[in-house]
Amino acid sequence: MILHSLYELFTFKEWMIFTVALLFFIWIIGRKNSPNFPPGPLPLPLLGNVFTGGDYETMNKLAEQYGNIFSLRRGSTKIVYVSGYKMVKEALVSQGESFARFVSPLFDDIYKGRGLSFTNGYSWKKHQQFSVSYIKSFGESQETLHDKIQHECYFLCEAFKEEQGCPFDPLTKINNAVANVIGTLVYGHRYEYDDFQFQKLLRMSAESVHLTGSVWNELYDAFPSIMKILPGPHHTIIANYRRLAAFLGEKTEKHKQDWDPNEPRDYIHSYLTEIEKRSNDKEARFNTGNLEWCMVDLFEGGTETTTNTLRWALLYMINYPLIQEKVQEEIESVIGQTRFPTMADKASMPYTNAVLHEVQRKGDIVPLNMARVATKDTTLGGYLIQKGTIVIANLSSVLHDQTEWETPDTFNPEHFLDSEGHFRRRDAFIPFSTGKRMCPGEYLARVELFLLFTCLLQKFTFQPPPGEEPSLESQLGFTKVPMPYKLCASLR
Ligand code: HEM
Repeated sequence: MILHSLYELFTFKEWMIFTVALLFFIWIIGRKNSPNFPPGPLPLPLLGNVFTGGDYETMNKLAEQYGNIFSLRRGSTKIVYVSGYKMVKEALVSQGESFARFVSPLFDDIYKGRGLSFTNGYSWKKHQQFSVSYIKSFGESQETLHDKIQHECYFLCEAFKEEQGCPFDPLTKINNAVANVIGTLVYGHRYEYDDFQFQKLLRMSAESVHLTGSVWNELYDAFPSIMKILPGPHHTIIANYRRLAAFLGEKTEKHKQDWDPNEPRDYIHSYLTEIEKRSNDKEARFNTGNLEWCMVDLFEGGTETTTNTLRWALLYMINYPLIQEKVQEEIESVIGQTRFPTMADKASMPYTNAVLHEVQRKGDIVPLNMARVATKDTTLGGYLIQKGTIVIANLSSVLHDQTEWETPDTFNPEHFLDSEGHFRRRDAFIPFSTGKRMCPGEYLARVELFLLFTCLLQKFTFQPPPGEEPSLESQLGFTKVPMPYKLCASLR
């Protein structure tokens, strides 16, 4: 009744003008930043900069225009992008305590406060410490991690051999091998490369990572209540994560039956023991629900990144045959043809080590890192970043920082060699990120990359299919992955 009388006070046209003016007013108020907030492109009313792409190439262009710290809005959410080695280091290390993991509405709905990647505080800290120390202890015993990776190298080489030098896409075989390494560590089991169900699971997992970098994820984060009811690929992300969690959850049930606390066989067994040990530390939240999602994080984090780094490695080898030849010469002189490579060989193989580092630098697999949120008002590069602002460190800009790398845009292993050919560490080499939230799987990834890469180059010479020009084009998603490609693997 009141509404009706109110409506009759004005004409339809007057109401429209009033509504537009109100929206404009809300926009003006909403976009009012602190006086010292980083600059950025003008946001649209209510929508913000939703039409500005969220990929690293767009972010690099915006950094050229607005500087190493600039801001965007998605809906009403403020996001600050940080670029270049010095600023990224300041954000992630010097001021690391001012930022926590940002748990986006989409990942909050999926993870519900469980797991490693999308949690914060005491429980995250205890889970991170437990997981890193588990991976290290598994790795330090030569009979376990290194042997298991060598075992997988054998299967991978056999699978490549079956192609008999004909062109093939190495994606599924590499993906399966890498997933088997993390699978052995997490649930103590490997799958054959022709296991259809496992291949399906791996495709689903890759699809989720790809879609996470799409506009659907951004729209969900900007307008969660609307996107929840709208159909679209964001529902595929949710469904795929749930399927992966269910697959890993089943493993936990089976493990409970043959669990011997004195002889943990894998991550699940060790975690079950940790649940008992921490029965009085409720705040740490060691329980089977959390275990399931920690496994999702280790499996997904450990599979996509390492698989695609190896795909980049082989792609660079077919693009740069002289570099491949030099790696093979080093393998020949240090390891020979009759024994498997070991981690002890690495110290005597500076060139191969430099090539792998350069693959990770140029491959630039996680270009925009995982997002942070400011936990308090913080000054970064002279700008005020208010509590609650999302902060994204552009790792790609560090791996290509012109002030840090001699030839940032060229694939050049010399970046990691000194004038005498010794391996040279570089501070701006941060593909695993840096600071307290950096990748907990770095150790495992480095062992895998070295053993799988040297093993493959020991056994095969890689070439593009006859008459084909190999391309270094990439696909944009959350991770930066090579476009599908084929190669020929000829036995040496
Ligand atoms: C070449 C291989 C890899 C690369 C380049 C890589 C890179 C990264 C990056 C950039 C992050 C985000 C760090 C941050 O927010 O500052 C991350 C997080 C993470 N990675 Fe990796 N990663 C690799 C391999 C692995 C492996 C093998 C595992 C599993 C054993 C793993 C598990 C994780 C997990 C669980 C997180 C989330 C950590 C947290 O939020 O505390 N990653 N990784």
